[in-house]
Amino acid sequence: MSDQSASNEASNAPAGAAPASAEPSQSPTEALPKGGCAGAHAAWVQGGQRGQFVMRAMPVPEIVPPPPVAATPSPPSGELYGICNKREIRDRMGKSFPLMRRWTDGKLRPWDVFIARFGKEYHAYVNECPHQHVRLDWEKNNFFEPNYLKLLMCGKHGSQFDPETGVCISGPCKGAQLEKIVCFVDDEDDVVLAGINIDLEAEIGPAAGDPSVDEVLENNGFKLQSTKREFL
Ligand code: FES
Repeated sequence: MSDQSASNEASNAPAGAAPASAEPSQSPTEALPKGGCAGAHAAWVQGGQRGQFVMRAMPVPEIVPPPPVAATPSPPSGELYGICNKREIRDRMGKSFPLMRRWTDGKLRPWDVFIARFGKEYHAYVNECPHQHVRLDWEKNNFFEPNYLKLLMCGKHGSQFDPETGVCISGPCKGAQLEKIVCFVDDEDDVVLAGINIDLEAEIGPAAGDPSVDEVLENNGFKLQSTKREFL
């Protein structure tokens, strides 16, 4: 090729194109587009040349899941729930009722309540001590302090509660309060609970992590000293 033709070829090249004889600044594979994402395993192919697979994923900020939102009890259903006849609970005694309560996530969960009788008064509470959130009964259906039978008592550390208000008046959770439930005796002598949302038809499931009543009563360590109770 003459010097003249060579200069003509160079003048026909598109403006800005590197001369054919120029040394490429990148290898052929480097010149190919690079890209990909996790899970893409096929190399990029163009013009018969295999491209280089290079991860170019953008850094993603760490995804921190939101803390679980504790479900809260569903609003009261407006229903009245007849729980038992008033004669089923003896004076200065109580009775525990495992129920299923509806929560804001729509689920039913075991919920243990007790009704304590103090003369003609009936008081219902959630069966959970505010101190360490264990059941209160130190023996089956026994919720009253055994010497004077005037105060409710937790069997684990002996906190004592006013039966009418549920306020702890002595013991490790002094000043705390049991969760009270609206309770009254209706015309048919049934003890009725209100202001809650429960399902009396639902099968009672075991409370998660909650030992059975018998286990609690065996393990709470409470030693009954003496009692003045004389009725049967
Ligand atoms: S758990 Fe009830 S007084 Fe401690």
